[in-house]
Amino acid sequence: MTTPLPIDFRDSSNIELANLGQNLALIVDPAGKLDQQLRKLDVAMRKSLTRLLESEAWLSARPGGVLTLGFPVGITATQLLVVSLPTRPSVDEARAAGAALAAHAGPGGLSIFAGHHTRVEEVAHALALRSYAFSDHKSKTPAPRGQVVFYLRHPEVVARAAAPLAALAEGVFFTRDLVNEPANILTTTEFAKRIADMADIGLKIEILDEDALRDLGMNLLLAVGQGSTSPTKVAIMHWEGATDTEQPPLALIGKGVIFDTGGISLKNPGGMERMTMDMGGAGLVCGVMRTLALRRARANVVGVVGLVENMPAGNAYRPGDVFASMKGDTVEIISTDAEGRLLLADVMWYAQKRFKPTHMIDFATLTGNIIAALGSEYAGLFSNDETLTAWMTAAGRAESEGIWPMPMSPAFDESLKSLVADVKNKGAVEGGAIIAARFLSRFVADGTAWAHVDIAGVTSLKGDTRLAPRGATGWGVGLINRLIHDHFETH
Ligand code: BES
Ligand code: ZN
Ligand code: MN
Repeated sequence: MTTPLPIDFRDSSNIELANLGQNLALIVDPAGKLDQQLRKLDVAMRKSLTRLLESEAWLSARPGGVLTLGFPVGITATQLLVVSLPTRPSVDEARAAGAALAAHAGPGGLSIFAGHHTRVEEVAHALALRSYAFSDHKSKTPAPRGQVVFYLRHPEVVARAAAPLAALAEGVFFTRDLVNEPANILTTTEFAKRIADMADIGLKIEILDEDALRDLGMNLLLAVGQGSTSPTKVAIMHWEGATDTEQPPLALIGKGVIFDTGGISLKNPGGMERMTMDMGGAGLVCGVMRTLALRRARANVVGVVGLVENMPAGNAYRPGDVFASMKGDTVEIISTDAEGRLLLADVMWYAQKRFKPTHMIDFATLTGNIIAALGSEYAGLFSNDETLTAWMTAAGRAESEGIWPMPMSPAFDESLKSLVADVKNKGAVEGGAIIAARFLSRFVADGTAWAHVDIAGVTSLKGDTRLAPRGATGWGVGLINRLIHDHFETH
């Protein structure tokens, strides 16, 4: 498991900047006003700090921009980084600074003088997120990173603000590890085990095996896993943190296809290795549940994920097959590659029947079509509830995690009509992401405020982003954590 690098907050009042560490960073307001400690450092450095702050490069630096002085005279640090950041930055600006600093948090450690800046906890959070590296399967273990220390006024206040963000970073790392993990390691059994291990942090965990799923009538989910030697499972994570223990929970549902070959409707081989990320919805739900437990959130939330592998085999399900869902609706299989919606239909129905949630949100790497529509900047949001849509888009904006509302008119149901069953699992190619959402809407009970989030485009990327190296992004853990904080917690 990849753990976020430890970050310390210490009092800056009595430190001598000229004698501080090997790698020293100063967070300085663009106006370049030096307080007493920085003035003293500047004198020790024979005014080279002043020179830097009067340079064209500094004046044109953006929030989070870094200028570097190598082997500066008069101080012990071998490198001095000067970060431009307004004294009262926005969250986004603070995170830009943290992301930039991550590049410099090497084995030698990093001391950061944050002066009188606010939102230092956000700088630290971004630094932690951007320092992620998945090295579990590298034969050479990378050099451990040194200690990162922020020096500032009132370190205990900042440390208190940083604690829930450290919980969030752990949740994000948990999600990223799950998504990056190859399918030969992260089998359905291993996935369920990692979830069960979260009992250690106070989550109540249940794992349903195939016999239990058969008894419940979850035939759509079981059909998807029929051709795999990895047993199909459903994992349930309970977090009961609300002061009113009777408060009905928010339900988070995740698609956990540990590998999607397409099944008998086999995918093209080119790039098929990317389908190890097809459990990204389940990974996201697990990261959120981990965060909630670590920060002891005052809300009742239940996470339910379907864990399954979609393989071609002699006993695999096939196009033309008909299965009865747990709800009772019968489904004609047109493509065994439209497996995610089958899994979700049964898992969503189960969660609603058992937990009677007021709100339910499902997450799934569901369609290539959403990538055609929104690329990798935005996840697609489909909902039957305008308030929930507004809450989620606002949380996305606040966390800089793109999410965009999509239409969901019943007109899209036409192409799902089946001759032999109640519905087909695949309709027209055009509008495919919307048609998939319409399929899911059949499995939403009256009165449940529901949102479906298609995360196929945002879950794992070929390139780096501001807060993540290439690979798993951990998209959505921050957004949903904030949604819960803002609208589902008692404060
Ligand atoms: N897991 C895929 C969707 C996907 C595609 C995720 C690319 C990430 C990147 C999903 O199970 C799938 O195969 N969807 C089909 C649906 C179609 C058969 C109706 C698709 O998008 O082609
Ligand atoms: Zn899939
Ligand atoms: Mn598929």
